[in-house]
Amino acid sequence: MIYRPASLADIAALETIERAQPRCAGWKAAGWQSELKLPASCVLCAEMAHQVVGFIALRFTSGVGEIVNVGVAPTHTRQGIGRTLLQQVLSWVRTRGGGRLSLEVGANNFPAIRLYEQAGFVRVGLRKEFYPGPEDAFVMEIKV
Ligand SMILES: CC(C)(COP(=O)(O)OP(=O)(O)OC[C@H]1O[C@@H](n2cnc3c(N)ncnc32)[C@H](O)[C@@H]1OP(=O)(O)O)[C@@H](O)C(=O)NCCC(=O)NCCS
Repeated sequence: MIYRPASLADIAALETIERAQPRCAGWKAAGWQSELKLPASCVLCAEMAHQVVGFIALRFTSGVGEIVNVGVAPTHTRQGIGRTLLQQVLSWVRTRGGGRLSLEVGANNFPAIRLYEQAGFVRVGLRKEFYPGPEDAFVMEIKV
């Protein structure tokens, strides 16, 4: 498995993962294009046998960041890819002096909540009916 920064050439693969994982942010090609061009954006992907099988997107500037999108292809979940992507993005922040990161996660999205809690994120808030459904969101934070 290779973990590397995503590029514009990866957009089709990133979209494929998002279509298969409705819990992702659901960016279309244009959304990925603008994300990948943002100076504050860090998008890492996991590549196996020339296939992108996971990604994580962070926006980070001036010591404050937000994880805005995470997904692993359904064929490759429970193999430690999400955990490694998260650890890599935390390392990326540490090499830039560290800071405080937050995210929103569906209150019923137990796999993602466990993933974040294992990495050290803690729940700091609840946003009522934040997602369609409606579903509440937990706000989670970590200091790195
Ligand atoms: C959440 C997601 C990124 C996890 O990716 P993954 O590569 O399967 O996760 P990992 O294999 O690295 O698992 C790391 C930890 O996450 C938790 N976890 C992951 N999948 C889980 C599941 N189905 N049930 C319970 N816990 C789970 C576990 O704590 C796991 O550690 P363990 O295997 O030692 O028990 C993946 O399930 C996904 O893409 N989900 C849909 C998109 C999404 O929800 N994104 C987050 C939006 S906020």
